[in-house]
Amino acid sequence: MINVIEHADLQPLNTFALPVRARWLVTLTNTEQLPDILALPQFERQSVLWLGGGSNILFCADYPALVVRMANRGIRLVADDGVQVIVEAAAGENWHEFVQYTLEQGWCGLENLSLIPGTVGAAPVQNIGAYGVEVQSCIEAVQCFDLESQQLCWLSRNECSFAYRDSVFKHDRQGRYVIVAVRFVLSRSFTPQLHYGDLAQVATELAQGQPLTASIVAQAVCRIRRQKLPDPRVLGSAGSFFKNPVVAAELAESLLKQYPTLPHYPQPDGQVKLAAGWMIDQCSLKGYQLGGAAVHEKQALVLVNKKQASAADVVALAEYVRNCVAQHFQVLLEPEPVWLPEVLPHAAG
Ligand code: EPU
Repeated sequence: MINVIEHADLQPLNTFALPVRARWLVTLTNTEQLPDILALPQFERQSVLWLGGGSNILFCADYPALVVRMANRGIRLVADDGVQVIVEAAAGENWHEFVQYTLEQGWCGLENLSLIPGTVGAAPVQNIGAYGVEVQSCIEAVQCFDLESQQLCWLSRNECSFAYRDSVFKHDRQGRYVIVAVRFVLSRSFTPQLHYGDLAQVATELAQGQPLTASIVAQAVCRIRRQKLPDPRVLGSAGSFFKNPVVAAELAESLLKQYPTLPHYPQPDGQVKLAAGWMIDQCSLKGYQLGGAAVHEKQALVLVNKKQASAADVVALAEYVRNCVAQHFQVLLEPEPVWLPEVLPHAAG
């Protein structure tokens, strides 16, 4: 028996804490409930929203259809050859708790991705990444429920077509596959990835002369994140609000002539990723507030719910920030969270 809540409050279910409602809400705690959910009269494949931790979503209005909150839990060891392990986690597991669990078992690989809000099932969708690591490097396969065949299936890492904040789940598979579990391949030996920003320095300080471990790197990541990024339980946000733009080498070169300190990261394909937070910061927008929404004072790439922001406040602020950056740098920023409905037009091309 599936409990359907009408006009459900979504404010506690989105980390931006926007005051919106779902026409109907159900909570999935076990994949065996899927056939019953599909049989609900309120279920419509094209309009249903499969919701994880609500940390990468911007509700611009009430959601006019069924929302299914993925809350299935469970972690199990699938294989262990003494060198690597394969561990499977259900989509509804909390991401950070899962990362901590793997580190407690001595399994390495996810330490740089500590403290990212959201669920395990949402991690592959936007290929979460931080401090020089993207989750794709540890994903073996993603288990999905295929809404067409109504069967469970596995997509290999290759089939997921991972890229920077992108995957197949944002494109052709959107609306067909519901992620129900993820298998990770983790290592029993530790290979530190410390090249990003001041991570090496903070981790070395924390190690206090002792050998570095994955848990120490995780602590360093948590420390850096807590200094810069808002705790969504205290200050609503959706993490980075824009993607770091990846631009042609020629544009990057001309921008760097004008702004030699613009942080930039050359990509394997010759393009260059630019630090959007730096550009927003250069527009003197840190702390800038419109209605209840504001640019975070410590990290300009993050927009926050300063004081009972409405969705309209956030949209107006995002447009303002985007226009300022476009005027200064001739770069159009793309939103990072999913907007429902999509309000800010995407850049052409
Ligand atoms: N910067 C500024 N001012 C700012 C913000 C950034 O000058 O207000 C500069 C920093 O000093 C640094 C550069 O811009 O030189 C990059 O900043 P930072 O290291 O804080 O990272 P980011 O590029 O702004 C990305 C991810 C974050 C992730 C960090 C660390 C995206 C869209 N965001 O942010 O991910 O935690 O790197 O790896 O790629 C998220 O996706 O929600 C998220 C928080």
